[in-house]
Amino acid sequence: MNVNGQRYRTIWTADTGQDVEIIDQTRFPHVFTTTTLKTVEDAAHAIRVMQVRGAPLIGATAAYGVALAMRADTSDDALMSAYSLLLATRPTAVNLRWALDRVRKALLTVDEKDRVAAAYKLASDVCDEDIAINMAIGLHGSEIIANIARTKKPGEKVNILTHCNAGWLATVDWGTATAPIYMSHDGGIPVHVWVDETRPRNQGAFLTAWELGHHGVPHTVIVDNAGGHLMQRGEVDMVIVGTDRTTASGDVCNKIGTYLKALAARDCGIPFYVALPSPTIDFTLTDGLNEIPIEERSGAEVSSLTGRTKSGSIETVDIVADGSNVANPAFDVTPARLVTGLITERGVVDASQQAIAKAFPDRISASA
Ligand code: MRU
Repeated sequence: MNVNGQRYRTIWTADTGQDVEIIDQTRFPHVFTTTTLKTVEDAAHAIRVMQVRGAPLIGATAAYGVALAMRADTSDDALMSAYSLLLATRPTAVNLRWALDRVRKALLTVDEKDRVAAAYKLASDVCDEDIAINMAIGLHGSEIIANIARTKKPGEKVNILTHCNAGWLATVDWGTATAPIYMSHDGGIPVHVWVDETRPRNQGAFLTAWELGHHGVPHTVIVDNAGGHLMQRGEVDMVIVGTDRTTASGDVCNKIGTYLKALAARDCGIPFYVALPSPTIDFTLTDGLNEIPIEERSGAEVSSLTGRTKSGSIETVDIVADGSNVANPAFDVTPARLVTGLITERGVVDASQQAIAKAFPDRISASA
């Protein structure tokens, strides 16, 4: 995507070809800065503190993390310890395990002397594939938006609600939930996006709004609790969200608060779509509510807020009464029955075990 006229991916190799550059997402929206990862520990740290976040980008960073580890030591032991270190960084997004399994499996078949080059190539392939997947999701999703524009809103803008950031910052490029939006906008369909702020880390207000603004997509940031009201008033035509892990039966785990949007959408008869790249499908699970590990994050994310003061400095302030307990579950699970469709790289698929298996028979056998 373009940032002030310069073309960016969210992760790339430096001119040396071996250091890895990322956009530091902890500084948004007020500071755009990049950071260099030189070691596997740097990569693990970047994922853990959410300098990089979003399921696909976590996977891509982990793949490069293994390459950084190989740069220091190409032994099997180093490979295994890089795998374990990176896998432990965040528990919910399954793209992390998907990327690490893929890279580890491939490297174990490669002679140690060739592992550095092979690891960088594997990581680069993960990134290129992510972009191709997201572009395909964009094409399939933009057909849904075009259909709504044609049949329900001729001559008017299509209002789309999204939650968290499933934008290009969450992927290598394009985003998942945002790819259909960018393609529709670029194709001349008038769209407007309701951006859930997404407390506690404000990925909507900090990241999605920044992205859409840079691409010129009309959007409005709302508090998380406003979505139901807007849906009741007919001001939302569809919902598109991303996902961190979707089970083989179509249960969708995504940023906390997604489930409430799905409930409100169902009550109001509004289509609720999930943009789902196949590396985010966990074919080993069928019961999202009981089987998907939900990350519990620090209560400090709930009890404080960071922002820019009038004088321009970035400050963090406490917002919860002293002494109150706080809890911070970071994801929730939307049962498959509330999902209108899964927008995958292979087309729009029903959120059911049968439909997912039919669309991805090769992935099922690979994960067995
Ligand atoms: O905690 P985060 O910011 O990593 O959570 C991100 C999300 O929940 C996204 O919606 C999801 O990863 C899909 S990104 C294409």
